[in-house]
Amino acid sequence: MLHLQRSCLCFRGWLAGMLGVLLSLAPSASSDVSASQPNILLLMADDLGIGDIGCYGNNTMRTPNIDHLAEFGVKLTQHVSAASLCTPSRAAFLTGRYPVRSGMVSSIGHRVLQWTGASGGLPTNETTFAKILKEKGYATGLIGKWHLGLNCESASDHCHHPLHHGFDYFYGMPFSMMGDCARWELSEKRVDLEQNLNFLFQVLALVALTLAAGKLMHLISVSWMPVIWSALLAVFLLTTSYFVGALIVHADCFLMRNHTIMEQPMRFQRVTPLMLQEVKSFLKRNKLGPFLLVVSFLHVHIPLITMKNFLGKSAHGLYGDNVEEMDWMVGQILDALEMEGLTNSTLVYFTSDHGGSLENQLGNTQYGGWNGLYKGGKGTGGWEGGIRVPGIFHWPGVLPAGRVIGEPTSLMDVFPTVVQLAGGEVPQDRVIDGRDLLPLLLGTAQHSDHEFLMHYCEQFLHAARWHQRDRGTLWKVHFVTPVFQPEGAGACYGRKVCPCSGEKVVHHDPPLLFDLSRDPSEAHVLTPASEPLFYQVMERVQQAVREHQQTLSPVPLQLDRLGNLWRPWLQPCCGPFPLCWCLREDDPQ
Ligand SMILES: *[C@@H]1O[C@H](CO)[C@@H](O)[C@H](O)[C@H]1NC(C)=O
Ligand SMILES: *[C@@H]1O[C@H](CO)[C@@H](O)[C@H](O)[C@H]1NC(C)=O
Ligand SMILES: *[C@@H]1O[C@H](CO)[C@@H](O)[C@H](O)[C@H]1NC(C)=O
Repeated sequence: MLHLQRSCLCFRGWLAGMLGVLLSLAPSASSDVSASQPNILLLMADDLGIGDIGCYGNNTMRTPNIDHLAEFGVKLTQHVSAASLCTPSRAAFLTGRYPVRSGMVSSIGHRVLQWTGASGGLPTNETTFAKILKEKGYATGLIGKWHLGLNCESASDHCHHPLHHGFDYFYGMPFSMMGDCARWELSEKRVDLEQNLNFLFQVLALVALTLAAGKLMHLISVSWMPVIWSALLAVFLLTTSYFVGALIVHADCFLMRNHTIMEQPMRFQRVTPLMLQEVKSFLKRNKLGPFLLVVSFLHVHIPLITMKNFLGKSAHGLYGDNVEEMDWMVGQILDALEMEGLTNSTLVYFTSDHGGSLENQLGNTQYGGWNGLYKGGKGTGGWEGGIRVPGIFHWPGVLPAGRVIGEPTSLMDVFPTVVQLAGGEVPQDRVIDGRDLLPLLLGTAQHSDHEFLMHYCEQFLHAARWHQRDRGTLWKVHFVTPVFQPEGAGACYGRKVCPCSGEKVVHHDPPLLFDLSRDPSEAHVLTPASEPLFYQVMERVQQAVREHQQTLSPVPLQLDRLGNLWRPWLQPCCGPFPLCWCLREDDPQ
């Protein structure tokens, strides 16, 4: 059945492809298409490596549905995220701006938002493409992961909520899947928290003991009250540190619909079918269009929640099972689109927020993604493995089938592209770093508009790339790189993620130069001796960096200490705190 449907889709795809070619030959194609208000369906995977999927060269992972999008659409092979971690990359995706511009970065090592009970998040004065599309009459929905903050001052002001950023429908996790959601071996934040609480416990216990001893030996004269209080507090902290894992699960791994908490903590076996059901009913509700639907998968982040029928089925352990399940979800979503008769009127996009995590490998077991021939991965600043992600656009009848584009493109380009398609205008009162992709996708332009792209790690510029068009060369310059552990690993094993600053990074002077066009793995450092153009390239890139830096203005950093601190009064809780427990059964809207 599925097979039949696919082959008929194939034929339609072929027809569409031919049409697309014809269309792209016509000089006016671009203007015909822009402002045509197609439906827009954006699919974003979490932590998926570019080397994990078939159409990017993996021959043992089965991803037929994503491959189908590429076969009958346009595949970008130099598609890069604006950051190598979730929160900043997603902020840049939604706003079309480097995350330093919105302040969705830190300067002190907090690479993502750590808590739903933190006050940092996407500032309300940032404009997402959802906001513009909504103004242009689109129904706008987000299903899945958010991870761009929730509250500012109270547990229900929802100042950073998707519904305050242009979406009129939200179903999913305001936070993110984390190892902690399932008391998983690889925990993102439990260990730190347990250590801090344990430390406080020890301090208080010591205070209580010293006071008690001093008092018993008549060395000091205090009442018993401080002794009792510090002892009680110490016991409380010890108990809390013991249950902290369970508390985090309750507190942060929950599902919301619009402003209502639906499940806290979330039930894992339900979440995938629930998300699919939500997607299907959104499409049904809004089939008269135009709509924007962002499906932000909880896959393939640890703890790799996978339904029974996919467990043990892939050639790559639990990680592979999870990737193949996500691909199946993509297929289900495309089938739903087809069933509503929306395939030809919908632009579909597939990407990942950044590269796969190399640190999530325990012993011989793989729990993180594969970044193909690229060096580094999730979190490794400017190295390709952390930022080079899949990028596929599919729109039968308009975009050519099977086109492959190697020009530098960015996830930030989705912003001006969809705004243009909706007939909107990109904001003029701020810098937008993304560029309209439509001419490139249609084939009316040969080159992308990105001559330079900057690669940040937190608020620090680690690298930059220069596409020297007249020579067809792609230069990459690294100013700062993390110290890999062990050396040459492309990762920082023993840590959760590589650092961006401090003692564990190297500042290069002169900077490291690579020719990505000949050396995509960034394996051979070019020197003034081996590369006659060395100084010229350096000079040109440094000038571009200076020009870029002149466009930056200081903004409050949302991920720094104050914004990223857990505040009990901001903790969303559907029962009396700290017993955050509920399960609301109702029909998906
Ligand atoms: C395919 O993906 C798996 C899982 O990430 C990885 O272990 C394997 O090396 C990849 N194979 C190829 C040929 O890229
Ligand atoms: C979600 O909120 C939007 C408006 O903010 C409303 O139109 C929609 O009906 C809400 N959906 C649900 C399920 O409450
Ligand atoms: C948003 O507000 C902050 C101050 O909180 C300001 O620094 C920033 O420039 C504003 N951003 C925009 C795009 O207006």
